[in-house]
Amino acid sequence: MLLSTGLSTVSYIGATILFILCLGGLSDQETSRRGNLYGIIGMAIAVLATVFGPRVGVEGLPWIVGAMVVGASIGLYAARVVQMTQMPELVALMHSLVGLAACLIGYASYLDGSVALGGAEKSIHEIEIYVGILIGAITFSGSLIAFGKLSAKIGGKPVLLPGRHFMNLAGLLIVIYFGHEFLNEEQCITPLIVMTVIALAFGVHMVMAIGGADMPVVVSMLNSYSGWAAAATGFMLNNDLLIVTGALVGSSGAILSYIMCNAMNRNFLSVIAGGFGSDGGAPKKPAASGGTEQPAGEVTSISATETAELLREAKNVIIVPGYGMAVAQAQHTVYRITALLRERGVNVRFGIHPVAGRMPGHMNVLLAEAKVPYDIVFEMDELNADFPSTDVSMVIGANDIVNPAAQEVPGSPIAGMPVLEVWKAKTSIVMKRSMASGYAGVDNPLFYKENNRMLFGDAKKMLEEVYTALERS
Ligand code: TAP
Repeated sequence: MLLSTGLSTVSYIGATILFILCLGGLSDQETSRRGNLYGIIGMAIAVLATVFGPRVGVEGLPWIVGAMVVGASIGLYAARVVQMTQMPELVALMHSLVGLAACLIGYASYLDGSVALGGAEKSIHEIEIYVGILIGAITFSGSLIAFGKLSAKIGGKPVLLPGRHFMNLAGLLIVIYFGHEFLNEEQCITPLIVMTVIALAFGVHMVMAIGGADMPVVVSMLNSYSGWAAAATGFMLNNDLLIVTGALVGSSGAILSYIMCNAMNRNFLSVIAGGFGSDGGAPKKPAASGGTEQPAGEVTSISATETAELLREAKNVIIVPGYGMAVAQAQHTVYRITALLRERGVNVRFGIHPVAGRMPGHMNVLLAEAKVPYDIVFEMDELNADFPSTDVSMVIGANDIVNPAAQEVPGSPIAGMPVLEVWKAKTSIVMKRSMASGYAGVDNPLFYKENNRMLFGDAKKMLEEVYTALERS
């Protein structure tokens, strides 16, 4: 032990404050870098204070350092090779590790004979173990299924078993019964194993029942679960910092899930409870398969040169980026066009939908990377009323988030989802490669509107052509 108990406690308080500052910083793109830095420093302090603190003996150090080297190497490698569009999968996989850690620590805590407790203290410790393993196992198997779905290794369609609510309820009652058994029996691991199996099955069942369109909410919900699993681990290990950190992650994940549910018009409680008493947050009817629906009218295409002309003559332009901009890596060209137009006195702004792309903040990250100034990037609610006074709305690789069917077609799978009302601008231009549908698999009536033009092609290639035409004029 190198740190005294007092110093270790002070370090924990410092780390907690840094984690809170980190979350505060991450809530705004201008402060997010600083927020990240606070998080990194906080985590470094937390790890050092734990490793060199009063709880770890000198004989434990080689094990910890060895594990950290292995873990950090895998983490560094994964972070280097992962594509931005694969981030949700990676995050889901990381959540599964938190769940697995909670389970393993729970079993280790139970089997560790050195903890000799009695009376109420023993019961509390056993409850911590039981609940910790329960949350950990659900998080572990649920996150693995989410990883499978996001990486298309498992089909995205919701699997709705007959009598699934009854199965869930039966599972809950069995878990409660065995919890009672676990507390009352001396040294009997069977209830713990039965509960773990049920929790693992529940995690699989819960995420399998959720439709592809709701996966973003599921990932943030599992993020929340992983926080609670970490908090439960903190209770088992008697580590205050882990309890606080877990609670921060758990509650911020729950808030993010709530915001995303609102953005997608999903019922928060039905999604968070994994389908209890509802349709599991699944789309209201099966989504149309990508591009197989009959075209709902004529589309008018436009060339890059014509697009440049429209932009040059416009006074107000709103750019709406989506997943396709990320795929094409077109953000730098978008920035160059924006800078050119602004030099020429055009008011260019960006409209960001809360679930644009494939992860929260996806578009903000890309635009920040391309150095688009923060003060021209707006959230959907801040900008939606301005479309009628906009000359050109330019949609770059976005689809679902600008789909008027959300407002106009009551039976649509995305009915009620708030969208960016780009069609209200004088002219809207949609940049994409084909007529294929977006993530939700729904045909988009925007393409057929009279004031809409389609600029077909890879977003980066088309934007380069638009830039060249603009530069020449
Ligand atoms: P989408 O609705 O998925 O549409 C993206 C469009 O980009 C596609 O229709 C595709 O059409 C086009 N595209 C793909 N590659 C392109 C390229 N290289 N160049 C030009 N266009 C390209 O995306 P969105 O509008 O951003 O909406 C997001 C959707 O994802 C929502 O349904 C949301 O619920 C879901 N989701 C969101 C998240 C989060 S948290 N943001 C996570 C998971 C899922 P073509 O194939 O015709 O080019």
